[in-house]
Amino acid sequence: MKTIDMYEVGPRDGFQNIKEYIPAETKMAIIDGLVQAGIRHIEVTSFVSPKAIPQLKDAREIVTACLRQYPEVDFMALIPNLRGAETAVAVGMTRVAYVVSLSASHNKANINRTHEQSYQALKEIRETYPQLDVIVDLATTFGCPFEGKFPASRVVEFLKDYVDLGIREVCLCDTIGIANPGQVRDILRAVQQAYPQLELQVHIHDTRNMGAACSLAAIEAGVTKIQSTLGGLGGCPFAPGASGNLATEDMVYMLNEMGYDTGVDFPWVLALAKKEVQLIPTGVYSGHHIRIDAASRCFR
Ligand code: COA
Ligand code: ZN
Repeated sequence: MKTIDMYEVGPRDGFQNIKEYIPAETKMAIIDGLVQAGIRHIEVTSFVSPKAIPQLKDAREIVTACLRQYPEVDFMALIPNLRGAETAVAVGMTRVAYVVSLSASHNKANINRTHEQSYQALKEIRETYPQLDVIVDLATTFGCPFEGKFPASRVVEFLKDYVDLGIREVCLCDTIGIANPGQVRDILRAVQQAYPQLELQVHIHDTRNMGAACSLAAIEAGVTKIQSTLGGLGGCPFAPGASGNLATEDMVYMLNEMGYDTGVDFPWVLALAKKEVQLIPTGVYSGHHIRIDAASRCFR
């Protein structure tokens, strides 16, 4: 049975879009539920400017609680710069996701940096914290709200400097949900051919309801790490038109039914997604049960 590792990023990519502050206890209740459902990889927050993302101002508190309570879980946080890495290391994290966008204009809108500045910042992080495990989150890999789509060769070219810097893991992100399965296959094939040693993850938003199809295309191309969010909660505050993510419960349902081993309990994660909608009714959700519920139809 093939194992697929579900990487839950809702507490970061989902929560970051919600204006009203979600109390840390509510955030922790959802993280507790995710761990109980069997999720073993969670991006729990970001170490970014609280002016850019006020919702995640409690990042230190959340990470500290997570590391204390669940030593068996692989917790990550998103960072945009050296300052983020410093904080991550100070609170005891060993793994972070460093975000940079393939599109220069989205990189500027999201983290106010040029490509060169982002590269230099990562170089500094690698030199300062050589032990820190850094995943590169390549935002807008499959298309940008300002610049449109890029050829696979552009992804390969962009990653060269990062691979040369010793990066071993990259998450290809469809920040606004415009990928299709054929494009996912083509880009993965090109990246795998150029850098066979690179570990790959995918992160697909569900704007056109293609999150599961695109993620399955990635699995069929050999990817074993799939990012998703509980309930499909998501968006990007700096990418107009970004909608929810691939919903964890929908992907777990599909993979479990197909005979993959996700280690995640579907009824549990479905119940948790429904609970999250009650707790955070202001979120943008793409989870299928939520759309069904909205149409007042019975689902399970
Ligand atoms: N953690 C906390 N605060 C940080 C920080 C970090 N990693 N990096 C910078 N800051 C603070 C600075 O101290 C400064 O605070 P001050 O205004 O009180 O002095 C302020 O943020 C601006 O710092 P500066 O270095 O001038 O950055 P900037 O204005 O060019 O913004 C980022 C750059 C990266 C800090 C900011 O754009 C950001 O945090 N973006 C996050 C975007 C994001 O999370 N997007 C969604 C995920 S993909
Ligand atoms: Zn995202």
